[in-house]
Order: sequence, then C-alpha cells, then structure tokens
Amino acid sequence: MLEVEGVSKRFGGFVAVDAVSLTVAKKQIAAVIGPNGAGKSTFFNLITGHLRPDAGRVVLEGRDITAAPPHRICRMGMGRSFQRTNIFPQLTVFENVQAAYIAHRGRGTNFWASSAALYRDETTALLQQVGLADKANEAASALSHGNQKQVELGIALACDPEILLLDEPTAGMSAAETRDSIKLLQHLAEKFGLTLLFTEHDMEVVFSIAEKIMVLHQGRVIAEGTPDEVQRNAEVRRIYLGERK
Ligand SMILES: Nc1ncnc2c1ncn2[C@@H]1O[C@H](COP(=O)(O)OP(=O)(O)OP(=O)(O)O)[C@@H](O)[C@H]1O
Ligand SMILES: [Mg+2]
Repeated sequence: MLEVEGVSKRFGGFVAVDAVSLTVAKKQIAAVIGPNGAGKSTFFNLITGHLRPDAGRVVLEGRDITAAPPHRICRMGMGRSFQRTNIFPQLTVFENVQAAYIAHRGRGTNFWASSAALYRDETTALLQQVGLADKANEAASALSHGNQKQVELGIALACDPEILLLDEPTAGMSAAETRDSIKLLQHLAEKFGLTLLFTEHDMEVVFSIAEKIMVLHQGRVIAEGTPDEVQRNAEVRRIYLGERK
C-alpha cells in the first residue's frame, strides 16, 4: 500500500528526518513511535505532501506521490489527521464533514445549489459511522476534545481513503476517551478495510493494536518489527523506554 524510500528533511542545518524507509502492507496497522522531537510528525508531513522531502521517494499503491500537493494525495486515497486538531470551530459538526465532501468531490453539476444542500446523505451516514449523529448540529468548538477528534476523523474519511495517517490520535484524551477512540478506529479499519499508520505516545495503545512498529530517534530508525521484537530490542529499551521512566 505504502512504500517510503529513504526520505530526509533538513530544517536549516538540522536533520529532522534522516533517510527513513518504511513499508506498510494493505490493511496493516502500523505505528511510528519515538520520543518528543524524534521526527514523527515531520515524517508524516513528508508522506502526505505537507512538506517536501530533500531526498527519497514516497509511493502509494505503485504511484509516485513524492511532493505531490496534499489535496491530490488525499484524492488518491490517503486521509490524515493532525497532532493539533484541525477543524472549523465555528461550524457545526455536520458542516465540518460536509465541507470536507465538497472540498474532495467538488460541487458536481450542482453549480447553483446552496452548499447546505450538498452531500447531506453522505454526511449523515458518515457522522453515524464516527459516532457523532446526535451532535450533528452542535458547534464544533462546543465539543469535548475526544469528540473534536471524532470530527477530524470524519473529515479524513470524507475523502474515501484506503490508508489513514493519524498523528497522535489520542493525544490529550482521558483514559475513557482513548479506549473509545481506539475501539472506533479498529472498527472503522475493519469495516472499510483501511490501512492505518499512526504515531502515539501511549504505549498501551501502540502495543494493543499495532502489527508493525517503527521506532524513530533523532530522525533515524533505530528499530522496526513486530511489537514483540521492538519491545525486546535493547536500543529501544535504553533510548526510548528508558527515557520515559
Ligand atoms: N518547520 C520546522 N522548522 C524547524 N524545525 C522543525 C520544524 N518542524 C519540526 N522541526 C524540528 O524537527 C524535529 C522533529 O520534530 P517533529 O515535530 O517531527 O517531532 P515529533 O516526533 O513529532 O515530536 P512530538 O512527539 O513532540 O510530536 C524537532 O526538533 C523540531 O523542533
Ligand atoms: Mg509530533
């Protein structure tokens, strides 16, 4: 599904991502972990077109998407969510997801229709899927942090993705919100046959759902493998798990 080959990103003299490669198979659930500043968000931004790599290649289902603009990558089947929630606070929940449909699919032949009339059925169905049907008409800003993340997930799903990149999907959530959102993610992945690539600081979440884990440290890959292999890796224990205690 996704092949990242030796991507690098420099900010001035500082190398944030250093020749990182990763392969994610169709329907796999893969995680990128690492301490703060390891380069996880930068790595995601290189994949999704929000940053242009200085070197390397990104291939999505056999198509080279290196440095393609984010909206095109989105249309090719890659959805994403951001570490800092990225929704329109002043719009309702419904309008947030509806706007995403209009952005991805356009207005079709409905040039003269008001925006409010577009993609109503799709939006209603999607809100049901992400568990927000009863909050459709609330202002996004009035929602709990966990519910706002659900809105963001709805926005990401509106482009009908095959792969979802989620940058710390449970950041700032309570334990209960984290549990619910992981259940929801697993359910959606199963239902739509999605491939997932996510970053996460909560090791319980990582080791409970990831089938493959890559560990970044100072922009470099220090380990990669199954959860068991990564947990046993001496360098990971020293550099990463050790730092957290
Ligand atoms: N636009 C930028 N300009 C300069 N430096 C940047 C920029 N974006 C990120 N960095 C630096 O690159 C390094 C990697 O940052 P990044 O946000 O990718 O880390 P991260 O692994 O996502 O960290 P966190 O766990 O805190 O989210 C950090 O040292 C950060 O300060
Ligand atoms: Mg980050």
